Amino acid sequence: MSFDPTQVIRPEVSALTAYAAPAPPGEGQVKLDANESPFALGQAPRGALAAELAKALADVALHRYPDPDARALRTLLADELGVRAEQLVLTNGSDEGIQLLEMAAGGPVLIPAPTFVMYEHTAQVLGLRLVKVPLTDSFELDRPAVRAALARERPRLVFLAWPNNPTGRLFDAAAVEEVLRLCAGEACQAVVAVDEAYADYSGRTFLDRLDRHPNLVVRRSCTRSGRRTT
Ligand SMILES: Cc1ncc(COP(=O)(O)O)c(C=O)c1O
Repeated sequence: MSFDPTQVIRPEVSALTAYAAPAPPGEGQVKLDANESPFALGQAPRGALAAELAKALADVALHRYPDPDARALRTLLADELGVRAEQLVLTNGSDEGIQLLEMAAGGPVLIPAPTFVMYEHTAQVLGLRLVKVPLTDSFELDRPAVRAALARERPRLVFLAWPNNPTGRLFDAAAVEEVLRLCAGEACQAVVAVDEAYADYSGRTFLDRLDRHPNLVVRRSCTRSGRRTT
């Protein structure tokens, strides 16, 4: 019996290399690149958190499936974010959210370059065409180049990390607004996903523009360390 996986797995998927997370910090090093806190919880808050978690777990109805719509959680998060609960989709990490968006919209997917690697990685896995528009020398969106690419390539999905990874630049909000407008026009119809993974650092958001732009999706990360969420 023999089995050759290369006959089954799509060549573009076989050619992928895994996303490499940097090694844990060594002695005397501080890890600052992953939106994590370098400070561990003190003994007292750890104890309080352990008790809170134990109580929450004890109250879980293990004989039932959890609420697939996560209604209680979405209501809490909506309140914190100042949006309506029905505007929220919860995912297991950003990878799942990016994948859902790409599966739903399909390609072409337009991204600035360089940007967060998962937009491209997921597009490759799904076999979607990717359009990369290089940033300017000052790491801003190249507005004329983006305009031209939108009209020429007619993407169905655009990702803008705001602030961008790895450049740290918060693109000019007017440039993002322009992309949103152009992607809801005659020449191009696309979902624009504004990825606010680093909203804690920028203190800026497009959440309050959701009702103005029907093609806007705001992506957020959820951590237990701060008051914020997704
Ligand atoms: C732009 C951007 N989005 C999303 C993520 C990951 O988000 P999460 O931790 O919510 O999966 C990162 C992390 O590198 C990122 O840089």
